[in-house]
Amino acid sequence: MENIILTGDRPTGKLHLGHYVGSLKERVKMQNDANYKDMYLMIADSQALTDNFSNPNKVRDNIIEVALDYLSVGIDPNKVTIFIQSQVSALTELTFYYMNLVTVSRLKRNPTVKSEINLRGFNNSIPAGFFTYPISQAADITAFKANIVPVGEDQLPMIEQTKEIVHTFNNIYDEVLVMPHAVLPSNKVCFRLPGTDGKNKMSKSLGNCIYLSDDSDTLKKKVMSMYTDPNHIRVDDPGKIEGNVVFTYLDAFCEDEHFEKFMPEYKNLEQLKAHYQKGGVGDIKIKKFLYNILDSILEPIRIKRHEYEGKIGYVYEILKKGSKKASDTANETLNEVKNAMRINYFIDKDFINKYSYKE
Ligand code: TRP
Repeated sequence: MENIILTGDRPTGKLHLGHYVGSLKERVKMQNDANYKDMYLMIADSQALTDNFSNPNKVRDNIIEVALDYLSVGIDPNKVTIFIQSQVSALTELTFYYMNLVTVSRLKRNPTVKSEINLRGFNNSIPAGFFTYPISQAADITAFKANIVPVGEDQLPMIEQTKEIVHTFNNIYDEVLVMPHAVLPSNKVCFRLPGTDGKNKMSKSLGNCIYLSDDSDTLKKKVMSMYTDPNHIRVDDPGKIEGNVVFTYLDAFCEDEHFEKFMPEYKNLEQLKAHYQKGGVGDIKIKKFLYNILDSILEPIRIKRHEYEGKIGYVYEILKKGSKKASDTANETLNEVKNAMRINYFIDKDFINKYSYKE
């Protein structure tokens, strides 16, 4: 079977470093190395609306931002179909049919939905649309017959739920849907990059993000105010690595060549860590090092973003063309689904023969 890759993001803000190490970087690698027939990248605006329905302009404004983020990290629109979820109406239709295959109690048990309900304070007033978004995510994946779904760890329950829907559908109706598999980022630290404040997750609502579009000065300020080891007061004090965000980021971003370039007195991260733990390395020094690394990663991304901002009409065309292509593909699957579900009255030969006018 030929591989079909699909993944996506909610357009609720600009993408940040957490997205970069957790997924964007992997996607660019996949786009260039993997063996695949089609690769899709979806801007999940319908899903974003499930918890931002009263703020449609926020979602609308971020469509272009996210597209710019994709293109500026090196997603190639000639290799990857970038599209907007809401413009593929087959996805909404599929969602409705899949709803029959999932119980309310199963949705309630979905760990991601559970924690998001708490996070958003929905308590007993959970919008039905939000509650059922894992079903719409199953539609996103199956509409394209994607077998590979590169995601972060927090999305695993969604893929599990999709697998169950595929299994149930194929069992009851016909073998139409393809079983998907999640692919996690290869570097363990990248599963969930903490925020600059040391909190569990880099997230817009916590205000602890470094954005791909941050300029050098903003980046420097953010890195210099990063959480380290509160007991590492003087340079000579022994420092802690665990929970020290600067080192977590170094684990995620630093490569040996960065030492040659920015800190030649050490060979690799192990050496630097050992010295820091023993005492004798100041926080300013490691922060400057991290800043240099991040700036060297973000600079080419900024330049590319700037280029695309200068030809925004081209970006708009990419989205329009991608959405058309995605719609055609999803419609094909929708037809197969409707055939399998026996709701194909006006294209079904048996029905036509039996009921249509014969002059
Ligand atoms: N839920 C994903 C997120 O919040 C976005 C998403 C929507 C997605 N549909 C998808 C990811 C399908 C992978 C496959 O990031």
